Amino acid sequence: MEGNSKIGIFDSGFGGLTIFRCIKSLLPEYEYVYLGDNARTPYGQRSFDTVLRFTTQGVDFLFAEGCRLVIIACNTASARALRSIQQLHLTQKYKDAPFLRVLGVIRPTVENIDSYSVSKVVALWATEGAVRSGSFPLEISHFAPQIKLLQVACPLLAPLVEAGELEGPGTEHFVDKYWQLTRARQMEGEVVDALLLACTHYPLLYSVIRRVVPKEVAVITQGELVAKSLQDYLWRHPEMKKHLRSNDDRDKDRGTTFYTTDRCDHFDHLAHIFMGVPVNSKLAVLL
Ligand code: DGL
Repeated sequence: MEGNSKIGIFDSGFGGLTIFRCIKSLLPEYEYVYLGDNARTPYGQRSFDTVLRFTTQGVDFLFAEGCRLVIIACNTASARALRSIQQLHLTQKYKDAPFLRVLGVIRPTVENIDSYSVSKVVALWATEGAVRSGSFPLEISHFAPQIKLLQVACPLLAPLVEAGELEGPGTEHFVDKYWQLTRARQMEGEVVDALLLACTHYPLLYSVIRRVVPKEVAVITQGELVAKSLQDYLWRHPEMKKHLRSNDDRDKDRGTTFYTTDRCDHFDHLAHIFMGVPVNSKLAVLL
């Protein structure tokens, strides 16, 4: 039915809120469903098959909730599951619903990376899974081959965010450790002048990261890039746009339903801090 569908946002936990916050601010007129798989986070060290299975379950849940378009707001899941979901899952399980779409966060980031760096040496922090997938270097080789990427896996940062440890000496210690590792990767004569936070959890540590990383280095977050890319997508796909429930009056909020797979009180507490508005989540059971 026209004008009745929602946009789904999926992440392994709280990280997707850093993307959603920007989407909601740029495109407030749509109705959203957010799902955080907090019970099984982090995805970063899990196998390819496990991330694919969990992400597929999340996407199925959001389609069942009336979403026509799902954004996988997680680099690990985008790197390890997006292509299989687009090419196999959608065409098999949803062959009678060919209008359903799933988009990720890696392509919109890579398409814009060049403008942040003069030296063309860019550091990238991500989960172990996202680094091991090789997705970022592959996309960079297509869309920004002039960029040299120094990838550093930061397996301890997403768990710190999930635990709500956004500040303090412990968090600063690990951020500093990863920055020292990054510096050690620079070859002689290379100067990193941009650091891409390629895990949607990391912007929640932005103030600590900004304190540790020298001010000459730009710290790039993905939220605005992904939001802008979604806006472009909807301009280019009026057939999708007309099926989404929206307000003509952009000042009127169509609202969001939040789901978590774990404790709603824990989700609501941290989501309130991250989103700046009270959140009342519901429990999701993923099958
Ligand atoms: N938010 C996820 C990402 O962007 C990662 C967190 C996790 O390890 O689950 O990669």
